[in-house]
Amino acid sequence: MLRCFTAGESHGPALTAIIDGLPAGLVLDADAIDRDLRRRQGGYGRGGRQQIERDQATITAGVVQGMTIGAPVAITIANRDWENWRDRTVTPWRRPRPGHADLAGAEKYGLDDLRLIAERASARETAARVAAGAVCQALLAQVGVRLGSYVEAIGGVWADLQGLALEERLAGARASDVSCPDPRAAEAMRAAIDAARAAGDSLGGVVVAVALGVPVGLGSHSQWDRRLDGRLAQAVMSVQAVKGVEIGPAFANAALSGTQVHDALYPAEETGWSPRQGAPGRPMRRTNRAGGVEGGMSNGAPIEVRAALKPIPTTLRPQPTVDLDTGEAAETQYQRADVCAVPAAAVVVEAMVAWVLADALLERYGGDHVEVLVRRVRDGS
Ligand SMILES: Cc1cc2nc3c(=O)[nH]c(=O)nc-3n(C[C@H](O)[C@H](O)[C@H](O)COP(=O)(O)O)c2cc1C
Repeated sequence: MLRCFTAGESHGPALTAIIDGLPAGLVLDADAIDRDLRRRQGGYGRGGRQQIERDQATITAGVVQGMTIGAPVAITIANRDWENWRDRTVTPWRRPRPGHADLAGAEKYGLDDLRLIAERASARETAARVAAGAVCQALLAQVGVRLGSYVEAIGGVWADLQGLALEERLAGARASDVSCPDPRAAEAMRAAIDAARAAGDSLGGVVVAVALGVPVGLGSHSQWDRRLDGRLAQAVMSVQAVKGVEIGPAFANAALSGTQVHDALYPAEETGWSPRQGAPGRPMRRTNRAGGVEGGMSNGAPIEVRAALKPIPTTLRPQPTVDLDTGEAAETQYQRADVCAVPAAAVVVEAMVAWVLADALLERYGGDHVEVLVRRVRDGS
């Protein structure tokens, strides 16, 4: 129903996001998109590129007088760094960085200059993803769905979040430059990033994206490609450097028994849920170890998607590689890079979750105008 695409290179003139399939009547505010772009640009551990860029969304299609008209929405974000590169003669890159797209991409596309692959593989592209994600979040907000994200680990330092409600986690993350709701862990994460920077190295980590207020029944059990968990995993796994995705505490659940893991159901009365008129009441749960998805469908509980990021491939300290001109052993050449992009990645993962949920929402409820969508969700029709 809803399709999002991006175009643009890291040092091209601009990035573009296209969001196709939005209903008419959605009020879109470029400032709200910019707020998310700023969140993505921030975070302790980022490289010099963020000093250059001032990401700002320009809506170039699909919005008239601040409102969608049922046409594809296009957004561009200028690359300020383009001016620094446009007339520069660059020596072709011939030493592939382990962990990056350089070698496989150049072999696949038959390009000698590895930079031509890096230009598009670069996570600079995630600015366009975040812009599209902000649009999807504006749609989801119309029906009471709210998203957020936080950092759970960086470089082996884990936050202790036991007993902290999701809302508190999200609020804590917003107030932290490593997006970590545990201040003590945040301190240790900053120290780990400083140590990695001093050692010319890089770090990865773990992020969690959360969606609250998701209606029951997005996705479907009926076909593999309609399952919400599968769709979330694919979208989140597509984020640069994400190498693992879980819904709820999936890997911890795998070590427990069925009666320890599954979220037991209780009658509505017991938890004070107010049943719909004429209905006996929706059974409730006291836990959410399923992470909000059962049988490939949202079950009404908060959706929690966790992603593991490998460390940034580009490191100041050289790594062993091969010079493709000589075939001889060589060392990687440093390109300006983040030491740690985990806080930024949390914002990107949140955007990808928004893409999937907005699509699944429109699939479930449809509506060519936002008011129709809102009415249908309210009526559960
Ligand atoms: C927000 C963000 C920023 C990133 N910044 C860098 C960077 O500065 N340098 C780098 O080498 N990789 C960076 N990466 C990771 C690479 O883009 C990624 O590892 C690479 O494209 C190869 O893809 P893969 O790791 O998914 O296999 C970043 C990733 C994200 C999500």
